Amino acid sequence: MSALQTQVVIIGGGPSGLLLSQLLHRKGISSIVLERQTRSHVMGRIRAGVLEHGFVNLMREAGCGRRMDREGEVHAGFCIAHQGQLNRIDLASRTGGETVMVYGQTEVTRDLYQARDAMGGVVIHTAQNVQLHALNDARPFVTWELDGVSQRAECDFIVGADGFHGVSRKSIPADVLKEYEKIYPFGWLGVLSETAPVSDELIYARHERGFALCSLRSPVLSRYYIQVPSTDQAKDWSDKAFWAELKRRLPADVAAALQTGPSIEKSIAPLRSFVAEPMRYGNLFLAGDAAHIVPPTGAKGLNLAASDIHYLYHGLLEYYVKGSCAGLDAYSEKALARVWKAERFSWWMTNLLHSSPDGSETDLRLQSAELDYLFSSDAAQASMAENYVGLPY
Ligand code: APR
Ligand code: PHB
Repeated sequence: MSALQTQVVIIGGGPSGLLLSQLLHRKGISSIVLERQTRSHVMGRIRAGVLEHGFVNLMREAGCGRRMDREGEVHAGFCIAHQGQLNRIDLASRTGGETVMVYGQTEVTRDLYQARDAMGGVVIHTAQNVQLHALNDARPFVTWELDGVSQRAECDFIVGADGFHGVSRKSIPADVLKEYEKIYPFGWLGVLSETAPVSDELIYARHERGFALCSLRSPVLSRYYIQVPSTDQAKDWSDKAFWAELKRRLPADVAAALQTGPSIEKSIAPLRSFVAEPMRYGNLFLAGDAAHIVPPTGAKGLNLAASDIHYLYHGLLEYYVKGSCAGLDAYSEKALARVWKAERFSWWMTNLLHSSPDGSETDLRLQSAELDYLFSSDAAQASMAENYVGLPY
């Protein structure tokens, strides 16, 4: 079987890989996306749903913004619940009018797949045993198996958008790759329910029993999370126990207004901060979860993937349109500079709002002082707001 020829091979059919393939295609740059799972498996993943304005603009630039703009909710603020009080962080007034868009990652991925189909984009599903080759050569190539038959594609560049457990990062020699990691001793038990959201803005709760979050997907679909020990199993949490614990962690009036119902999805996500450096090796470029993971507290996971794609897209454009490698040569450094700022913000917000199992009395007092400072300082709220809406690209 002769090798497929293309300009960019993208490994991973998640939001990062699809968004890049779509943006490149609109500029006449060819790509192939290789995805290990079926499309329904990829679409079945329940992930976060707060989009920074940078990501929203990128979706529009990719021609994928219509449903997002029609069905997504623009949020100009969110609340932090502490000691029975709701404290609102006014994003718009603290950032000169910037907001976020609440629109589920599942919907983002659905829109990207539809856009790829509409343009006849090549997305190969159930691609098994993907292997990367000749990463330092002018024409690297990728091999995989489809229904047991070996396949090969040759290209100019390979993009590793295959997530944390993908093959791409592992293809970078150990003496080149440096990994930074912090694992938190707790996880998030998340429930999706076909109930009206308890609030039309997100509520992050800091409570001595642990963190909680009230989020939403639509006026009839809610997403709630509670902090649980990382040793817990979702199957050990009945819906009844979940709702009861969530209510304990919310201000009394919010708990009283909470509509409960059967969970249609329930899972525990571990919390981790992770960064791999560099994000480039020869003609391989890492993007999204393949290179970095943030704890979900700051809603930065998907948004960081988008900023990687922004830098990579413009680097590839500069290469194919102007023949300049400047953007690609600067990619790793530029992307990592923004990654580390988002890692810092996500780590800070996680420490601010979670109770640490081995936290001392002193830790608790310091955490309360940090919250009191935040609620009483314009400067502190402006800093939180500018990070939450998304730092400039
Ligand atoms: N070969 C081919 N595909 C692979 C391989 C492989 N060896 N390993 C993983 N994949 C696929 C996965 O099945 C997945 O669909 O790569 C895709 C990676 O997608 P994501 O994990 O969603 O990563 P990314 O596109 O970077 O999106 C980041 O996803 O996890 C959330 O919080 C994260 O919101 C962030 C976003
Ligand atoms: C979500 O809606 O799933 C969500 C929202 C905000 C976060 C994390 C997750 O910080």
